[in-house]
Amino acid sequence: MINRYRQLGATEITITPIILGAWALGGWMWGGADEQTSIDAIKASIDAGITTIDTAAVYGMGYSEQLVGKAIQGYVRDNIIIATKCGMRWDDPKEEGSDPWPQQDPAGRNVVIRKNSKPASIAYECEQSLKRLGVDYIDLYQIHWPDVSTSAEETFGAMENLHQAGKVRAIGVSNYDVDWMEKARAIVPLASLQPPYSLLNRDIEKKILPYCRRHQISALVYSPLERGLLTGNVPADRQFPPGDHRCRHKLFTMENRRRVMAALTQIKPIADAHHASFAQVVINWTIQEPGITAALVGARNPDQAQHNAAAMQFQLSAAERAEIRRVFESLALA
Ligand SMILES: NC(=O)c1ccc[n+]([C@@H]2O[C@H](COP(=O)([O-])OP(=O)(O)OC[C@H]3O[C@@H](n4cnc5c(N)ncnc54)[C@H](OP(=O)(O)O)[C@@H]3O)[C@@H](O)[C@H]2O)c1
Repeated sequence: MINRYRQLGATEITITPIILGAWALGGWMWGGADEQTSIDAIKASIDAGITTIDTAAVYGMGYSEQLVGKAIQGYVRDNIIIATKCGMRWDDPKEEGSDPWPQQDPAGRNVVIRKNSKPASIAYECEQSLKRLGVDYIDLYQIHWPDVSTSAEETFGAMENLHQAGKVRAIGVSNYDVDWMEKARAIVPLASLQPPYSLLNRDIEKKILPYCRRHQISALVYSPLERGLLTGNVPADRQFPPGDHRCRHKLFTMENRRRVMAALTQIKPIADAHHASFAQVVINWTIQEPGITAALVGARNPDQAQHNAAAMQFQLSAAERAEIRRVFESLALA
């Protein structure tokens, strides 16, 4: 059994070691989703003890935040921890920011998403997110991606204003490297970083995790199931619809799926020993890794949400953890 709560950075906020990731729930870039199923998944996750939820303004162009807002209506606000993100604008009439990224919104309209962490944009986005979520404060507000067109002073000055105003309880970042975090930390305390991390992608172990541990920045890692690949539910013949980004993702080639499946087969005795699925073993491995505060895990329906929450109900031994690491370290992806 894994302890149900962990501290967020140096703040007084406690979060769950598994955080429900609400990106796929909105369906955007995941081939669509049924609204009621998604709302039920969020509720099932909360009822199973996963009281921390991560979303972002850009997920479905506000739709994911709306879903979270609808799902949490019947719960006591203070018992839920809401993390969301700003800084990816699809609706900025001034078209400010960097790295224009052409995309389609959920209705199939063409939009251009820009990284924009300018003060006026952050202030505007926060108000929009509060409305969509139906709350009067956000527990953790994160800059989604670094914006090279805006200085750290401007960005984190704006974040600090929101903090002072009581609209945001803690400030975090996502997809920042050490240099970007250094600049941010010179202006505000950073509660967390949201980087990618999984058994197939352990890059942050070199510099980023040690830095976060040194400065008490929580690592809330995303895509720990590698978008489903590590669940055993992506055999070579699984087809993804054109609207699901996995049909073009470099990890999802037929050859990689075969190799990952072979690696999972090697750790099956460990899963069986705990009466656990691959998904549960992978989540459990991730949240026990030193320096990882929480794993952001996506789920598409109540079954997956409940199943993933149950990954806290056992503990892999040090020897099992080492064996799992060894298997995936010796896995070469094509
Ligand atoms: N900051 C960033 O830039 C960033 C980027 C990516 C993600 N994130 C955050 O991290 C969260 C999680 O990442 P993610 O959604 O990319 O990937 P993930 O958690 O690695 O994978 C989620 C996907 O795996 C499948 N799955 C989940 N539970 C399963 C189970 N028990 N059995 C079988 N399949 C299962 C589902 O897809 P299928 O059922 O369709 O296979 C689900 O959508 C996101 O929701 C978001 O909050 C942040």
